[in-house]
Amino acid sequence: MSVVKIKDTVSGPGYDIVITRGLDELADNLKKPETENRRALIVTDSNVGPLYLESVKSVLITVFKDVEDFTVPAGEENKNLDRVRDILKKLVSLKFDRKDFIIALGGGVIGDMAGFVSAVYLRGIRFVQIPTTLLSQTDSSIGGKTGVDLDEYKNMVGAFHQHSFVYINTAFLRTLPKRQFASGMAEIIKHGLIRDNAYYEWLVNNFNEINDQESDVIEKMIRISCEIKARVVEEDPTEQGLRAILNFGHTIGHAIEKYSGFTLLHGECVALGMIAASYISYCRGNIDTEEFYEIRDMFLPFYLPLTLPDDYDPKEILKLSKSDKKMDGGRIRFILLKKVGKAVIDTAVTDEEILNAIDQLIIKDY
Ligand SMILES: NC(=O)c1ccc[n+]([C@@H]2O[C@H](COP(=O)([O-])OP(=O)(O)OC[C@H]3O[C@@H](n4cnc5c(N)ncnc54)[C@H](O)[C@@H]3O)[C@@H](O)[C@H]2O)c1
Ligand SMILES: [Zn+2]
Repeated sequence: MSVVKIKDTVSGPGYDIVITRGLDELADNLKKPETENRRALIVTDSNVGPLYLESVKSVLITVFKDVEDFTVPAGEENKNLDRVRDILKKLVSLKFDRKDFIIALGGGVIGDMAGFVSAVYLRGIRFVQIPTTLLSQTDSSIGGKTGVDLDEYKNMVGAFHQHSFVYINTAFLRTLPKRQFASGMAEIIKHGLIRDNAYYEWLVNNFNEINDQESDVIEKMIRISCEIKARVVEEDPTEQGLRAILNFGHTIGHAIEKYSGFTLLHGECVALGMIAASYISYCRGNIDTEEFYEIRDMFLPFYLPLTLPDDYDPKEILKLSKSDKKMDGGRIRFILLKKVGKAVIDTAVTDEEILNAIDQLIIKDY
């Protein structure tokens, strides 16, 4: 078992992320004065519920006075205000009070949405997350960002609301579709590239063990990724500066995601966005040819794409990248690599640089 401590950020006293294999340590970690005589509502989705709701519930019932559950249909299209309303109505009908708990059991969609409900129900109640995807175990369960989409606008409505506790059971990853696992790997590779060269090298050298989900390797990887994200977020909890480096690969990545009509997964697009951003870093002389190709090629063993189909239009992707909400006074806050393991914020990346970087992602028919 590993524990990553998240320090006080904006609003809360900080919390622990426990990383382990199995559910054995869940009850002990939750038995605190705050949970005594309290009630809990587990929010899950229609894929995760049938797999894990009963086993989690049987543990939680030993901690809380009463454990209720609510299942939302799976998928990003359900991360919206209608579903928020459904969950809120459930809480009202159950007469949950301010000291009761919401437990999110699922991926980032459930975590973001149940987190948002926890932020607004009675102006804020306690929120525990049991993340079940690689992305939610290493990315979305740290940093206190909660929210839902508003029509086609992603994460448009939200709040910062800290968790009380996060419990990561790596065994849940066994049932995760392979493509979803790969998508989560993109954010993990990002952590190495932006902050920790030694971690990046370790990932490159351990791709077999990671893909085989060897427990010790997976636990170590999740711990290091949580620590990297936690340290960045602690230094800049409300995204005034440094936290922007977590958007490495995301400006072009989000644009590709929209262009693909969301047929490509988020991590797949972030991988492509990171290749493009690394290419610009290479053109600027920050990394050399060998480093650029090593970054590009390492996505392959993790089942992430290196190229875009030739019918993708770089100019349209550039246009979409400018409508991204991560702008700074009209300029794109672009994240580049200063070197492998260190990212920098740059507001002077030109359209031409972006176009060239997208262009080199496109498969050419010579
Ligand atoms: N709050 C943040 O800081 C933050 C950061 C990154 C991403 N996000 C958000 O996270 C969301 C994406 O999260 P995600 O990738 O976890 O997607 P997701 O929650 O949609 O999960 C992906 C799919 O896997 C299924 N699933 C989940 N766990 C499973 C398991 N153990 N076994 C089998 N199937 C399982 C889900 O039902 C779903 O179909 C996006 O909405 C994104 O905006 C938030
Ligand atoms: Zn991301």
